[in-house]
This record gives sequence, C-alpha cells and structure tokens, in this order.
Amino acid sequence: MPNNLLALNWKMNKTPTEARAWAQDLSEKLVPGDATLAVMAPAVTLSALAANLPAGVAFGGQDVSAHDSGAYTGEISAAMLKDVGASYVVVGHSERRDYHGESDALVAAKARQAQANGLIPIVCVGEKLDVREKGEHVPFTLAQLTGSLEGVSSDVVIAYEPVWAIGTGRTATADDAEELAAAIRGALEQRYGAAAAEVRVLYGGSVKPDNIASICAKPNVNGALVGGASLKVSDVLGMNDALK
Ligand code: 13P
Repeated sequence: MPNNLLALNWKMNKTPTEARAWAQDLSEKLVPGDATLAVMAPAVTLSALAANLPAGVAFGGQDVSAHDSGAYTGEISAAMLKDVGASYVVVGHSERRDYHGESDALVAAKARQAQANGLIPIVCVGEKLDVREKGEHVPFTLAQLTGSLEGVSSDVVIAYEPVWAIGTGRTATADDAEELAAAIRGALEQRYGAAAAEVRVLYGGSVKPDNIASICAKPNVNGALVGGASLKVSDVLGMNDALK
C-alpha cells in the first residue's frame, strides 16, 4: 500500500512573492510525517517553490496542455512543468471541466502528455449534487474515470472529489469517500491488474485538519487533495500531523 499523499491545490491563489514566503514558513516549521506532501500551484509560482520548499516536499501544476509545444497561446506544456522541477500535475479538476468545458477525452490526452514527460497526473473525477441525489454517483464517477484514463498507464493518482463538497464546507463522510474509493479501486484492478494496489486514490472536498485522519484511515483512501485548507501553513501542518 502506498503512503498517504497530501496534495495541496492552491487554485488561483498566491503570487510568486506570497508563494516564496509560504514555502519559507513551511521550511521552518515542518516536521516531516508519514505523508508525502505536494503543492499544486499556479505555474508562475513554481520557480519560487522549487527554490524554497523544504527537501522532500514535491510540487506540480494545476493543468497542462495536451500538446507538446507550439501555437497554443496561454498554455503550459508538460515539458515546461518538468523542467521547472514539477513531479505532478492535476488534470480534469471539476473547475476546469465546468468552466473550460474539458471532456473526459481531453483529460485523458492531458494525462498521457504528463506521463510522456515524466510527470504523475492527478486525475480528478466526481459527481455533482443532482447525480448523487439520484443515487447514480458510483456509475457516473466510474464512467468518468474510464473516459479519463483512456491510454493512461498505472503511474497515476486518482482524486475523487464530489463537486457538492468542494469549497462548501459540506464534507462527504469517511464512508462516502470509501464507497467511491473502493469502487475506483475495483475499476483500477480491472484496468491495471496487480499494479492497481500501488495507485493512490485521494479524496477531495472540504478536507481540514479535523477531518483528514478519519477519511484517510479508510482502507482504499491514500490521501487527500485539499483546496481551502492548503493556503495557511498552520492548517497544512495540522493535516500533516493528523496523518502521522
Ligand atoms: P476545498 O478543499 O476548498 O473544498 O477544495 C477541494 C478541491 O477542489 C481540491 O482540488
């Protein structure tokens, strides 16, 4: 079983100056625990993170182009992320699926592009409230997973993020998280065989220092993807401690 991954998603927060100060503060205070830490940050902050994060804390991007290079104004390539020292990249976050119309096929293309450049994609899936209220959250999420993993190898992280729990303070229960994590694990076993046991399945949605331990104690949950509570170093230290 892999150890927990505490993946922090800053979303569109922090300037390079703020990122540097945050990383220096973390360096002074972090007592490494059992979890692996990774900061998923705006592209313009990654150089500051590379220079200032404590040893052993990884970082990555929040999105990546499906293309190698060329006339794609505004996009960031996987080779660029790799060159700045990134290890991971988030693909298919619900905010990108919703606000930028990203399809499962595009998410899979981005994940393949990440892997081709030596990055580990964190592929996000999860249902909206209406789907959950109809009781269709398991088949919906598994269909999204299948589409988003087309041609993607097992060197991947899956983040189950029910959209209704993101930024709302409405956390899924640990049992809700485990229900989907177990279903995702089953689908990964069909796809990857024995290698599925090494794939981390994260939960995301209103994770905080006081609820992370119970969620990550579930057998099929291998960490968390954290938005709001990733911005303050004190909260990150609290979550890191809770995973010891
Ligand atoms: P919150 O932790 O703010 O609910 O965000 C979750 C998320 O979207 C992480 O990617």
